[in-house]
Amino acid sequence: MIHIRGLTRHFRVKGETVEAVRGIDLDVEEGELVAFLGPNGAGKSTTLRMLTTLLRPTSGTATVAGCDVLADPAEVRRRIGHIGQGNGAGHTQRVRDELVSQGRCYGLSRAQSRVRADGLLASLDLEPLAKRTVSTLSGGQRRRLDIAIGLVHRPRLLFLDEPSAGLDPQNRANLWEHILRLRKEHGTTIFLTTHYLEEADTMTERVMVIDHGTLIADGTAQQLKANLAGDLVTVTLGEEAEARQAAEVADRMTASHETGVEGTTIRLRVARGDEVLPEFLRALEAAGIKALTADLRRPTLDDVFLALTGRSLRESDSVE
Ligand SMILES: Nc1ncnc2c1ncn2[C@@H]1O[C@H](COP(=O)(O)OP(=O)(O)OP(=O)(O)O)[C@@H](O)[C@H]1O
Ligand SMILES: [Mg+2]
Repeated sequence: MIHIRGLTRHFRVKGETVEAVRGIDLDVEEGELVAFLGPNGAGKSTTLRMLTTLLRPTSGTATVAGCDVLADPAEVRRRIGHIGQGNGAGHTQRVRDELVSQGRCYGLSRAQSRVRADGLLASLDLEPLAKRTVSTLSGGQRRRLDIAIGLVHRPRLLFLDEPSAGLDPQNRANLWEHILRLRKEHGTTIFLTTHYLEEADTMTERVMVIDHGTLIADGTAQQLKANLAGDLVTVTLGEEAEARQAAEVADRMTASHETGVEGTTIRLRVARGDEVLPEFLRALEAAGIKALTADLRRPTLDDVFLALTGRSLRESDSVE
């Protein structure tokens, strides 16, 4: 569905070059649900805008839904749906009329457009709002309408730029229900950007992490977490001397790990915390060291980002 090689985009700003996207390679197969995760300014929207033909790449190639973005942009646009970042506020049209005019825009007849609009209103739970003016919708309702608009021409590939930004948790959950349903019922390939770590982690099967215009990781959230971050085992002892002894016990264990001792606390970073923690506790007991508390923390995608960049994605901008 998407094949990108060496995709690059520079901007000239006041005589200086901003390298927004620096040579990205990636492939997305039909039916995949992919999240593009990265901090503010990472290059997510710029990449999406090149893939949706709104922006010309500085160099590199991209085939989207079987068409070259440079050679055949009009055909790419016919085949995809694109919902950009932020709401186009100030619409005075009614919700249903907006959908009908979009259908007309894509060459459907008036009757076809109406049927399509009603189908979309039903499938995105917008029926009760059909006669409302677009500008009166709440943020969550507006995002659902945006998705309906992006689907008018039944694209097999849908791009969503920050679909859930600014929504409260309930609206976000509701939006995801719709995205997942869309995928299940129509097999739509979905490529979306997000800053929300939990969302990328739990909702999508594949996460691509982008930072400073470069793709730095690509895999399932599980793979990324297991390979790049690891579990964190934390045990507290009664005294600092015991914590130092515990570190020696840890060093004799077979599982490879990183050890850190701080006061009466020892931390081990390991691949399989669920196996290492009981083994470690038994070894401590055998050495006559009494553990006071033990804790196992599974990594998050933020730990992955930290391991890759030395920065926390949460702290690098206004990430939740
Ligand atoms: N039209 C433009 N002119 C100049 N610089 C731009 C332009 N568009 C984007 N940039 C710069 O390119 C970089 C990448 O921006 P982009 O919008 O792709 O980031 P993003 O990952 O979508 O961030 P956000 O999470 O804030 O939406 C940023 O440094 C941005 O300032
Ligand atoms: Mg953006």
